[in-house]
Amino acid sequence: MQGWLVVNAFYKNGKLNDIYDMLERSCAKFGMRLDARTTADILLPFGAKPTTLPDFVIFWDKDVVCARMLEKAGLPVFNNAHAIELCDNKILTAEALCDKVPMPLTIAAPKTFEGVGYNNLTFVERAAETLGLPMVIKEAYGSYGQQVHLAHNVDQAVDIVKGIGWKDFLMQQYIGAHPGIDVRFNVVGDKVTSAMLRHNQHDFRSNISNGGVGTKFDYTATQAQVAVDACQALGLDFAGVDILLGKDEQPYVCEVNSNPHFLSTLAGTGDDVSFHIAEYIANKLN
Ligand SMILES: Nc1ncnc2c1ncn2[C@@H]1O[C@H](COP(=O)(O)OP(=O)(O)O)[C@@H](O)[C@H]1O
Ligand SMILES: [Mg+2]
Repeated sequence: MQGWLVVNAFYKNGKLNDIYDMLERSCAKFGMRLDARTTADILLPFGAKPTTLPDFVIFWDKDVVCARMLEKAGLPVFNNAHAIELCDNKILTAEALCDKVPMPLTIAAPKTFEGVGYNNLTFVERAAETLGLPMVIKEAYGSYGQQVHLAHNVDQAVDIVKGIGWKDFLMQQYIGAHPGIDVRFNVVGDKVTSAMLRHNQHDFRSNISNGGVGTKFDYTATQAQVAVDACQALGLDFAGVDILLGKDEQPYVCEVNSNPHFLSTLAGTGDDVSFHIAEYIANKLN
């Protein structure tokens, strides 16, 4: 069995290389050779297929057009293009999940255009009336907590939106029962393989890359079910699900990552997510 690990052609960092190495080593344990291909290696006209095809693809990127071309060539692609697309855009994630799992109340900003921008900001005040203050403002696309903001009042919210420019964003109820804390659930197939509590003492954003500290979390069956339900609603084979804890540790899905950065999970919990992904793919293909 031979697979391609498809990765971004342009964005590179050392941690991603470590993730790729772990996936290759884990696949080898199940007799599957994994060869890296960048999205630029695959470059094809629409309607064409690669001349040589692997048995499967692990798609470690957000290039959904490229993922869809590989699906159209008949390949099993993990995660699939549609699931990656829903996860990549936090507005689409919220739309897909709002009636499936508990989520913070979320409002998408009305659409605008480059060169036009949000030139009338009264909707921000109306959103704050519905969501309460403080409220969270997130760009549709973002990671590492970098495009996520907390507005304590309407003036701050307006300033944040001005800083966002014309990009798509959402406004969200702030789950403040445990400030700076969330739980990263690692889900593969229909199982939680591990969960890591992330705590940032200096910032409401608990991302490890933003100063959060990760420790193994003993989750309840209800919390785990919410994480699995979120993945199934989005059609994911595997994912890192960020869950906020409300009053009485009630779970609220914050966001879902289709390419979870699992090195910090290994460090914080001892769980090697790449092993579970390889095992899951081997079982699916056999
Ligand atoms: N609605 C919210 N209430 C409280 N904290 C939040 C909320 N949304 C996000 N956060 C915090 O901000 C962090 C980053 O937000 P997230 O949506 O996961 O974006 P990113 O893709 O950048 O990780 C979360 O891990 C959490 O700690
Ligand atoms: Mg996150």
